[in-house]
Amino acid sequence: MTQHETLRRYGLFTSRAPRYTSYPTAPHFNNETGPETMAGWLEQVPEQSKVSLYIHIPFCRRLCWFCACRTQGTQTDAPLRGYLDMLKAELAMVANSLPAGVQLSRLHWGGGTPTILPPAMITELAEAIDRHFPLSSGSEFSVEVDPTMVDAEKVAALGAAGLTRVSLGIQDFDPQVQSAIGRIQSFEDTKWAAEALRDAGAKNLNLDILYGLPFQTADSLTDTVNKTLELSPDRLALYGYAHVPWAAKRQVLIPEDHLPDGPTRYALFHMASQLFGAAGYDAVGIDHFARAGDGLLNASLNGTLRRNFQGYTDDQADVLIGIGASSISRFPAGYAQNAPGTGEYATAIASGKLATKRGHTMTQDDVLRAQIIEDLMCRFAIDFGNVAKRTGAAQADVKAIATDLQRKYADVCSISADGLTLSEPALSRLMAMDVDGYMTNSNRHSLAI
Ligand SMILES: C[S@@+](CC[C@H](N)C(=O)[O-])C[C@H]1O[C@@H](n2cnc3c(N)ncnc32)[C@H](O)[C@@H]1O
Ligand code: SF4
Repeated sequence: MTQHETLRRYGLFTSRAPRYTSYPTAPHFNNETGPETMAGWLEQVPEQSKVSLYIHIPFCRRLCWFCACRTQGTQTDAPLRGYLDMLKAELAMVANSLPAGVQLSRLHWGGGTPTILPPAMITELAEAIDRHFPLSSGSEFSVEVDPTMVDAEKVAALGAAGLTRVSLGIQDFDPQVQSAIGRIQSFEDTKWAAEALRDAGAKNLNLDILYGLPFQTADSLTDTVNKTLELSPDRLALYGYAHVPWAAKRQVLIPEDHLPDGPTRYALFHMASQLFGAAGYDAVGIDHFARAGDGLLNASLNGTLRRNFQGYTDDQADVLIGIGASSISRFPAGYAQNAPGTGEYATAIASGKLATKRGHTMTQDDVLRAQIIEDLMCRFAIDFGNVAKRTGAAQADVKAIATDLQRKYADVCSISADGLTLSEPALSRLMAMDVDGYMTNSNRHSLAI
């Protein structure tokens, strides 16, 4: 059987699977987790330990048709002002609940478009964070930047705030693809943003491109990849376009007749991966590439790569605190998500309470399945002894889950007394779905990215 037939037989070209940036995934969170649970989890964070912070800015000036993220369009700065005040109040509340001496591991601003904030608000937010969670020499400060929504003053404000890594969204440089996905962006603007941010101190550059977009061909994607490589990124994300118009309403504007089919998507991914490989970028996990010396690649090589809500990470902190509307916090004990809408979020914070709306408290079975899924996504392998040690589960329980997987995916899995190894990384999300205790046949096909 050819590799293609094997992938087809296991459903790669027809199935949808979550990205498993958490387990359980956010759609399986419940309403039992509220502000009190979140406050309790914050209080239990060990003194002097390291935590990471995610700050969510849900606003965008433009609303790209392809985008599946929860974003809110605004043409004025008025909503930004009110939202910034709420972020500052939430930061103070969170800091008050944490024990003394907690240090910052990673700080990430995501969205939406964090650089929609005018320069003075960028500085104000950075100072507010710094008051409670100062950056130290080892901490990383990264920001997601839309290259069409940044200028010299914003770059200077980010540089002064201590930015160390920037993620620029490219998606595709081809004009026909850009107009079909409602995102026009020139190579020149992107290059300017990359160079200006690097000059301002962002020593590390991440670039995002997508495969599986309408009108994308091998030639057009090759051109996009070559232009992307010209910007000399340290790290690349090559995401598969998730077409989920039932969840992201704007996507009804995407011309579905021109979307590549499953096998073509795979061929595009494979081709772009080869081009990255030839240019000196090694694969990290299922959708990242990085050059020698990059922290994510090092983590992949030494077995410490992890998964969090931003995707792959080399951050080893056990606690990630999400600030802002819809943000999710992760603790060893569970997940806590803030109210999704900015109005509901602001009302909660203005009343002096944390804005936690839903979440999940981990059971022992969740801890085991989460570790197995993280290992499948990050290492394409399950080491029985290691999983048992890290989760406190019996090795027999780890083996039982792996044996079921091996039976189903016999052509791509080998199993020994010590563990299971997967030879087709592209299938790791589908396999993770088989480990997912919350996945039923009825919700298997209705998943977002
Ligand atoms: C939420 S955006 C924020 C970045 C910034 N606002 C920008 O436009 O460059 C982060 C990344 O999510 C990815 N993304 C958004 N919608 C997607 C979709 N439908 N499928 C796959 N990836 C998607 C894109 O690669 C995008 O660069
Ligand atoms: S891709 Fe970026 S700018 Fe476009 S809608 Fe999504 S978050 Fe906003």
